Amino acid sequence: MNDLIHRIKELQREKNAIILAHYYQEPDIQEIADFVGDSLALAQKAMDATEDIIVLAGVHFMAETAKILNPSKKVLLPAPDAGCSLADSCPADAFGAWVKAHPGHTVISYVNTTAAVKAYTDIVCTSSNAVQIIASLPEDEKIIFGPDRNLGNYIRSITHRDMLIWDGACHVHEAFSLEKILDLKKQYPASKLLAHPECPKPVLMVADHIGSTAALLEFSKKDGTQTYIVATESGILHQMQKASPEKAFIPAPPKDATCACNDCRYMKLVTLQKIHDCLEKESPEILLDGEMCAKAGRPIRRMIEISRKLQLI
Ligand code: 13P
Ligand code: SF4
Repeated sequence: MNDLIHRIKELQREKNAIILAHYYQEPDIQEIADFVGDSLALAQKAMDATEDIIVLAGVHFMAETAKILNPSKKVLLPAPDAGCSLADSCPADAFGAWVKAHPGHTVISYVNTTAAVKAYTDIVCTSSNAVQIIASLPEDEKIIFGPDRNLGNYIRSITHRDMLIWDGACHVHEAFSLEKILDLKKQYPASKLLAHPECPKPVLMVADHIGSTAALLEFSKKDGTQTYIVATESGILHQMQKASPEKAFIPAPPKDATCACNDCRYMKLVTLQKIHDCLEKESPEILLDGEMCAKAGRPIRRMIEISRKLQLI
């Protein structure tokens, strides 16, 4: 293992590459990455990267976003089949037709979408800035939001905006069992439930804190509680435990006890060996045509611009 890490580091130096990893990656990958963050932080880091190569240890839409924001760099995705069930729940043709059928709406899309969906979008958002971006729009603005129905409903419950919401979801966040979470809360009465807004409403209703992966991590560092039940992908527990070794973090259990459903099967396709191989071969590379890059880039840049104005980044 040490030898593999050594070779990755050598290749990185030789090729002037940066490795960016999402919080849902395996701990060994988070440990060798130059930067670990949530979707928004990864987008910002990729945009500002000065290295020749960006290795995105995450899923396809993250690497695509990195390429759109920094098109002169070579962006490598170690596991080319690392998709996203949420992005898959929103085919671009159907989304485009839905947008067309509802003129006069501002289209807000979650970053967990393909470039083709972003091309139909006015402003992209992530779970770190979705509420604030929507709340910053005029109160009477009609909004189309896609693709995550849980995040959409959560934003609507807070902002009370006029929102049409696409009926998509992520298989990981839909898999948690409310019943088992409530059992755990009984077992650990002093614990707090931390939940990502991609979780369904019944889970969010019993959560003590709701936020993006970065927000949940920050909360767990500052909060005084000793035990947390964490309702998001299990990869985040690595940074939580690292930052607060004296605290206990329990992954929220899925409905099906026989599956590791709180692991994202796409995120977990990335391995150290694949990172090594993609650096060595400089492939698989994300390639986008210029027109798509321009169309999908506009709403992503708007997100960055608004996030900066709101001092969220
Ligand atoms: P954040 O990184 O925005 O918290 O999103 C979670 C997610 O589902 C990434 O795929
Ligand atoms: Fe997509 Fe869900 Fe995996 Fe995130 S956790 S990458 S939303 S499938």
